Amino acid sequence: MSVTRTKVVIIGAGPSGLLLGQILDRAGIDNVILERRSKDYVLARVRAGVLEQGTVDLLTAAGVGERLAEDGLVHHGISLCFDRSLHRIDLTELTGKAVTVYGQTEVTRDLMAAREAFGARTIYEAEAVTPLDFDGVSPRVTYVKDGVGHEIACDFIAGCDGYHGISRASVPDGAIATYERVYPFGWLGILADVPPVDHELIYANSPRGFALCSMRSLTRSRYYVQCPIDDHVEDWTDERFWDELRRRLDPASAARVVVGPSFEKSIAPLRSFVAEPLRFGRLFLVGDAAHIVPPTGAKGLNLAVSDVRYLSEGLIEHYGEQSGAGLDAYSVRALARIWKAVRFSWWMTTMLHRFPQATTFDQRIQEADLAYLVSSRAAMTSLSENYVGLPF
Ligand code: APR
Ligand code: PHB
Repeated sequence: MSVTRTKVVIIGAGPSGLLLGQILDRAGIDNVILERRSKDYVLARVRAGVLEQGTVDLLTAAGVGERLAEDGLVHHGISLCFDRSLHRIDLTELTGKAVTVYGQTEVTRDLMAAREAFGARTIYEAEAVTPLDFDGVSPRVTYVKDGVGHEIACDFIAGCDGYHGISRASVPDGAIATYERVYPFGWLGILADVPPVDHELIYANSPRGFALCSMRSLTRSRYYVQCPIDDHVEDWTDERFWDELRRRLDPASAARVVVGPSFEKSIAPLRSFVAEPLRFGRLFLVGDAAHIVPPTGAKGLNLAVSDVRYLSEGLIEHYGEQSGAGLDAYSVRALARIWKAVRFSWWMTTMLHRFPQATTFDQRIQEADLAYLVSSRAAMTSLSENYVGLPF
């Protein structure tokens, strides 16, 4: 078995791991990324695409803001659709901020290109990645590549390996608490090269269920409809999808839907999940490894980015000022922001979906929630300040 050394081993080359690696590279902190999948596999995953201003600022400061500034679409508002009418919420008027629509796949691509240009080490298709001895002062990570065993000795391990990763699973049961809610429906999503129905996003609550009109560019739309969690993608022809989407929108928006062949179609479950704490000796959990939010609040990637910001500050402080204060504070600082985003995402999900078990009372409360929201500047401001992103 070959043994090498680095300062930080990062497990996972999703947005969390790649962004952490990028910030550490620029700070002169040696790191290695171990990723189970191939680069092409990682780039083929379709994820959400709404970036908070703080996320855009951090990506820009990390040197990956160029294409984002050119291709990102700045949105100053969103619309809610219910009772067959559209209600616009002016995010910028209410908060002074905007969001940027730029696909997570593109963020990942930009980070991979920057890492390659820097010459930092990423090992793709690393099998059996195992974090070891992180409760002591000499952690290490073992893995197998092309049938050969390797070991990397390090100072810290960053678990950026998503919900199904090995990092959280390596922590002894008694040391970690988890909190979870699974929602009784899924989102069927499609990508199609047709112009979006509107220049901003539309979140719709209809008697037939939730729908979302989003986009990747001015010529590529991303649409979703709520569906039963046990539905099969094969049962959803494009025709059925377009028909269902239109039936969930107000008549004017429905009339503007441009249909075309989809080139991606998948069903995703919705879940809220938080693990606590986020630090176990010299192992840190970051991004989806630590928390999952339902996509209704568009918070998944943004939360991963705020975790990375807190952890990178702690690591830079550790190596620069020989102070452990930032690392000691990581879990508490990150969790404070995570729980607020978990609450917002749960609330948006609850307000906008049709729940199979809802009573008539629950239904009336949901209608009152929506009616109050669009009649109150205070309520719209509250939604907006969460949507554009709470401060780091
Ligand atoms: N060993 C090595 N790599 C692993 C392992 C493992 N045992 N298990 C998982 N991975 C890799 C996955 O293949 C994936 O590339 O870790 C990476 C985790 O990436 P993401 O799931 O994208 O998680 P994260 O980087 O935290 O990004 C959070 O992604 O899921 C969305 O909504 C979420 O937008 C948010 C963002
Ligand atoms: C998306 O474009 O995929 C998207 C946008 C907003 C959301 C969720 C997903 O809330």
